[in-house]
Amino acid sequence: MGDLLSLKQSFLEEVSAVSEAAELQQLKAKYTGRKGLVTAELKALSAVPPAERPSFGKAVNELKDFVERTIEEKESSFKDVEKGRRLLAEKIDITLPGKPDIPGRFHPLNRVLEEIKDIFVSMGFGIEEGPEIELDYYNFEALNIPRHHPARDMQDTFYVSDDVVLRTHTSPVQVRVMERKQPPLKIIAPGKVYRCDADVSHTPMFHQVEGLMVDEGVSFSDLKGVLELFIHSFFGKGTPVRFRPSYFPFTEPSAEVDIGCIFCAGKGCRVCKTTGWLEVMGCGMVNPKVFEMSGYASDAYTGFAFGMGVERLAMLKYSIDDIRLFYENDLRFLRQF
Ligand code: PHE
Repeated sequence: MGDLLSLKQSFLEEVSAVSEAAELQQLKAKYTGRKGLVTAELKALSAVPPAERPSFGKAVNELKDFVERTIEEKESSFKDVEKGRRLLAEKIDITLPGKPDIPGRFHPLNRVLEEIKDIFVSMGFGIEEGPEIELDYYNFEALNIPRHHPARDMQDTFYVSDDVVLRTHTSPVQVRVMERKQPPLKIIAPGKVYRCDADVSHTPMFHQVEGLMVDEGVSFSDLKGVLELFIHSFFGKGTPVRFRPSYFPFTEPSAEVDIGCIFCAGKGCRVCKTTGWLEVMGCGMVNPKVFEMSGYASDAYTGFAFGMGVERLAMLKYSIDDIRLFYENDLRFLRQF
């Protein structure tokens, strides 16, 4: 019995010194494991005189229970401490202000481009695309601009090789579409174009929207009707429009479309160079030579084409005086749209 008492004593001392769960397991093995100290006492039961055996057996069993219970309690208190520590570490202060969501928005050029597309789609035009790296043939030749023709000087060209250029306008898409499809045709072709040019109103890359309508009996008044409707939808109903004779090798006759200056209401200012008018696009009746190059019968069909600069239209619509603002990604600028 004295042995049991000192066993309990030493267990209590050891268990109170334990500071982590792993040590508890060792302690458990040391006392109640298969070769444990308390287990040994149980095994020694047969050596106890029969008269003392019941009370001794009872005492050993009580000690065994005590050891197991104590270890279990200590184990669960370790778990509680550990859990408390984890909760503390994972604590989230829900009173802190959140990170605001900054919603994106459309770039002003994309907005304008979408608006242009919407207007033409509502008039029944389809949308086509063509390559930005283009054959000299489509960019010039098939548009009636032969090599060494002075009209090539109208557009400062980036040459990739002798036969390959960065397209200087979206007009080559006219030819590519006519090679693929038969009339009637009513398409616009938006996209990037490239010219070796840079100042407050020119960047080496900019955007154009080409237009092409071909059918039997398409006339200049159809051209005027479509473009006037476009301008009134885009700039507002009362906007004055005029068609001024001009020259493009791929249209005949050709015209520039002007709108009444929206800055001075036609009175004459710095922006319109005192003319009261602003040029917004080029257009004309498709030159029969272009039809022939594209494989269309030039005696059966007529058509019109136009080309406009997206940056220029956006600048006029939103009174932006420097084209470079579109590409600098200054949020103070972009957030205004
Ligand atoms: N491609 C011409 C330009 O970039 C614009 C244009 C297109 C003119 C179609 C007439 C017809 O200047």
